[in-house]
Amino acid sequence: MTDPAPPTRARIPRHIAIIMDGNGRWAQKRRRPRLIGHRAGARAVNTCIDFCLERGVRALTLFAFSSENWDRPQDEVGGLMKLFAGALEREVDELDRRGVRVRFIGERSRFAAGIRDRMAQAEARTAHNDRLDLAVAVSYGGRWDIVQAARTLAADVAAGRIEVDAIDEARFGAHVALADLPPPDLFIRTGGELRISNFLLWQLAYTELWFTDLLWPDVDAATLQAALDDYARRERRFGLTGAQVGGNSEMSE
Ligand code: IPE
Ligand code: IPE
Ligand code: MG
Repeated sequence: MTDPAPPTRARIPRHIAIIMDGNGRWAQKRRRPRLIGHRAGARAVNTCIDFCLERGVRALTLFAFSSENWDRPQDEVGGLMKLFAGALEREVDELDRRGVRVRFIGERSRFAAGIRDRMAQAEARTAHNDRLDLAVAVSYGGRWDIVQAARTLAADVAAGRIEVDAIDEARFGAHVALADLPPPDLFIRTGGELRISNFLLWQLAYTELWFTDLLWPDVDAATLQAALDDYARRERRFGLTGAQVGGNSEMSE
């Protein structure tokens, strides 16, 4: 995964990565159990997928459940697992019909066998699609991702398949999640927190960040369009000067 020389002025992002935060607070505001918020959040996922399909965004990565979320109260974790299993059952046909290729990134061994099987089935079922690459990050942590890449490379070195000196950013990056996709152009976090919370640490190196106080279940196409409009106004310099990337020459003197 490399950052190719970018066109200066932004266009439609090729890849959007989203931390879907605020489900619990959305429910609490309504004096309902947190799980009601998670259910409402699942509906917003569909809005978001439709938006990407309509706008021609080719890849969407959604943070649904983090490595750290396993430590939430067991009834919430159990409820989320049920919701996830149900969504896997219900949504796959519709994703397939819409041309979405789905994959899951994260530590799968932590899931029950039944859920692992359904994830594999969903991936196999939609593998032929090419309108939108949807990655769902579940039991995912950016640190875990980097560690598993390091472990793979260490095993290659130990087995004599590669030299230590052959490990560079390109080779390392080929072993983190989503290596086959362009890195995210745009990161969105809902729910008002201004942090990355162990999402894609390697992959977000030059991603444009966008935050909103809106809670995830309240997100609609207008919210996502506001993020795209903001992205379109930004100049991505990748460490170069404004003049080098063809931007405002006054600023780059
Ligand atoms: C995000 O919403 C979904 C998950 C982390 C599973 P939260 O559940 O974190 O909602 P808040 O932040 O408590 O409102
Ligand atoms: C990040 O949200 C993880 C997901 C949205 C899946 P959290 O609610 O877990 O993050 P923190 O605790 O606010 O950092
Ligand atoms: Mg949260």
